[in-house]
Amino acid sequence: MEKRGSFGSRFGAVAAVGGSVIGLGNIWRFPYIAGENGGAVFILIYLSISFLISIPIMLSEFSIGRAARRNSMGAFTRLAPGTQWKWVGYAGILTAFIILSFYCVIGGWAFEFLKESILNQFQGKTPDQIEASFKGFVACGWRPIIWTVLFIIASTAIILAGVQQGIERYTKILMPILFILLLGMAINSLTLEGAQKGVAFLLKPDFSKVSGSTVLQALGQSFFSMSLGMGAMITYGSYLRKEEKMMKVGALVALSDITVAILSGLAIFPAVFSFGINPSSGPDLVFLTLPNIFSQMSGGHLLSIVFFFLLFIAAITSSISLLEVIVAYMTEELHITRKRAIAYTATAICITGSLCALSMIPDSILTIDGKSLFDLCDSLSSNIMMPLGALFIVLFAGWVLSPIRLRNEMTNHLQYGITIFPVIRFMIRFVIPVVILLLFLNQVGLFGRLP
Ligand code: PHE
Repeated sequence: MEKRGSFGSRFGAVAAVGGSVIGLGNIWRFPYIAGENGGAVFILIYLSISFLISIPIMLSEFSIGRAARRNSMGAFTRLAPGTQWKWVGYAGILTAFIILSFYCVIGGWAFEFLKESILNQFQGKTPDQIEASFKGFVACGWRPIIWTVLFIIASTAIILAGVQQGIERYTKILMPILFILLLGMAINSLTLEGAQKGVAFLLKPDFSKVSGSTVLQALGQSFFSMSLGMGAMITYGSYLRKEEKMMKVGALVALSDITVAILSGLAIFPAVFSFGINPSSGPDLVFLTLPNIFSQMSGGHLLSIVFFFLLFIAAITSSISLLEVIVAYMTEELHITRKRAIAYTATAICITGSLCALSMIPDSILTIDGKSLFDLCDSLSSNIMMPLGALFIVLFAGWVLSPIRLRNEMTNHLQYGITIFPVIRFMIRFVIPVVILLLFLNQVGLFGRLP
């Protein structure tokens, strides 16, 4: 048998999977969606979805990966040879490309902003100046491209060292750092004057804001945030040791995902509200609102360095999991060396990432229907590719993979989790496919979009 990498310990596995899961989605999307959709009620819905739907999907991916001990495309050809299921694997690899293309651009921005923070370039600037400098940076074209390329080089340097010596080793250091920095920032934010308003925005339960679309938003957010539906968890699952209890890994990771998401909200919103600014989401929140606040806050210089460093960690540990999906496929299926696979992938992403960066320039021609390539990559992956991928993955795990095999993977040959397994399998076979279908039909507008 060929030698394959694997994660050496439970902590290593949780750190690596957690590194993939915890990313930009937790920092700039979750807090805002939660605030807009009923606060604590949304968080409860999100938590239920994570445990009832996302963890079973994650366990399906882990099982497929570990049963096959192969990359996300090879896993399907090994478990269902001669069938068309391999296309689910190919689609996942394509999705990894699409996500990486815009994710690396943001990773590059985090790099640039880290530099600006270290050089103390936000201090003493007016909000207009900060906006002009951010817009100028994005519109400049070549500067974002250079940072995107640097970010890709940093990510590839980590995975070049392999699964255990690269991915596991770095995520084991970086994830605890991210957690501690974020906790420190949240505590600091909570001591600011007027912090309660931010806490109320994030946590105050408001049932009137909950509607059918809230649940669907929580679902979509959970898929992206838990890195589901595109093979990252199949690939990482294939690196789980045979004796690893995947249910525990899944539960720990889901808890970390939500904890970090809430902590980000507690780090960001009290500060935003305490300075009387309206919250926003996405790049604007992180690259405009926050620098504005850092420029006015005492200790803002240090805080901005901490924040952009943690944003950088969140982005890079997710980006290495995306790269690994492609690299594992190339080494195992196309039989090229890891070094070469990484070089080819990095080059391709440098090109697509640069195109995404260029599409952000005002009046760029890289747009379709008024949407920039960057936004298209974002919505294509999270609204279409990932839900569809997750649908086919659970159908495969629930209906194609033999029940005994699925059970052996999830319960380590009946060593634990025996009572919960039938519940998970029921969810995978019947409930989750229907729920994803509803989400998907709503997202492509077949219901005319729920209110
Ligand atoms: N989960 C990551 C985030 O929240 C994004 C991601 C999606 C990473 C899919 C890997 C695979 O930012």
